[in-house]
Amino acid sequence: MTEAVWQVEPSGPLRGDIQVRGSKNAITKHLVAAMLGEGPSTFHNAPEVGDVTITAEMLEALGMSVERSDGSITVAPGEVPESRVPEAFTGLNRIPILMLGPLLHLTGKAYVPLVGGDPIGRRPVDFHVDALRAFGAEVEVGDGGITASAGRRLHGTRIELPYPSVGATETVLLTAVRAEGKTVLRNAATEPEIVELALFLQRMGARIELNPDRRIVIEGVDRLRGAETTIAGDRLEAFSYLVAGLVTRGEVRVHGCPQDRLVTPITTLARMGARFEITDDWIMASAPDGLFPAAVHTDTHPGFATDWQTPLMVLFSQADGMSVLHETVFDNRLVYVPALKRMGCEIEVFAACLGGPACRFHDTNSVHSAVVRGVSKLKGADVRLPDVRAGFSAVLAAAVADGPSTLRGVRHIERGYHRPLEQFQTLGLRINRAET
Ligand code: EPU
Repeated sequence: MTEAVWQVEPSGPLRGDIQVRGSKNAITKHLVAAMLGEGPSTFHNAPEVGDVTITAEMLEALGMSVERSDGSITVAPGEVPESRVPEAFTGLNRIPILMLGPLLHLTGKAYVPLVGGDPIGRRPVDFHVDALRAFGAEVEVGDGGITASAGRRLHGTRIELPYPSVGATETVLLTAVRAEGKTVLRNAATEPEIVELALFLQRMGARIELNPDRRIVIEGVDRLRGAETTIAGDRLEAFSYLVAGLVTRGEVRVHGCPQDRLVTPITTLARMGARFEITDDWIMASAPDGLFPAAVHTDTHPGFATDWQTPLMVLFSQADGMSVLHETVFDNRLVYVPALKRMGCEIEVFAACLGGPACRFHDTNSVHSAVVRGVSKLKGADVRLPDVRAGFSAVLAAAVADGPSTLRGVRHIERGYHRPLEQFQTLGLRINRAET
């Protein structure tokens, strides 16, 4: 069987303008929210990424109509949907589990195949399952998937998450909006994509209160209508392309992502020596005087997002000195380090908590800290990409290497980035897709 690969040749400083689309981690959840509307919902500024296609196909398999044209997507839920997400969607992404709550409201029963996504940790689903049970659902986790049923309408409840999980917060939001009575969620995630989803649900007619201290109160309503929104620019993509400019000693101007979604990483990069120009429309970064090392720990919002650490790691390899990265969100997110090491990055990984306060992985065997020595001379290599964000970092390493690289498993990047090949070509990178 042939496989698509990317061939990358180092091409000097990357320069130019990038327009980011709406984020994959927002649009996919909005598509699930649309299941609950009595009429069609429309989303603008949708990215063309694999995860959107997968989610749209799941909705179609449930009997809903999905129309895509020119960056807009319209979902028409129709009458009572199917209650099973087909097994064919097993392991493709993390969206099916979010459909359990909406399916229970619409049909009283639900089956979803086990979720996939990137191999970046154990990624259990216990918070989701516990939350659904608290709403009154019966939930059974089998080897192949999750079966749920509700004899009567789900009811509001009090839930405290053990950790502010993005996905579990979304499960609670998407279930509580149509449950009977009030739900109080404590220790909720507050990522911008969560707030964006809450705003969209409010447009649909939901009653949601966002309180200080990670507390969300939702009063269930009997019906929700379809609504329309424009998805905000992807903060993970925006950061990645800014780093693409910095790491190659170029200058990339990113349009379409609001500054308030990038407050923490802009300051991190500025401390490393990056110079920024910021307007209402774009953000541009360059580092004409070189880069300093840094110690960074990932965190929930508004901390430094775990998804920003993969490009940062390559940037560390080009900063003058020793940098430290402490991953505190996922227990196994450094799986991509061997590929970067083969490309010449000098990285050592540790199970200890380095470069920040002790995290919940401190007395486990989880390898979640890294020390990176720069400036490293990177070399071209033939590497396999393990996940979407790690894939981007391999392209960055290939862009500063001393010879050509072949990157395999590019479907991971294509699952999460809008037209990445074209975007890199626009910036001047010699990159091609081939079948091998
Ligand atoms: N967790 C549990 N039990 C659960 C749910 C989560 O223990 O039932 C733990 C996880 O194992 C992890 C932590 O809670 O250690 C945080 O996980 P979270 O649920 O917040 O992550 P997620 O919802 O699965 C989303 C994004 C990720 C992003 C994280 C953190 C989507 C589709 N994925 O994952 O994005 O890194 O939040 O912000 O929204 C990516 O885009 O490449 C990506 C991996």
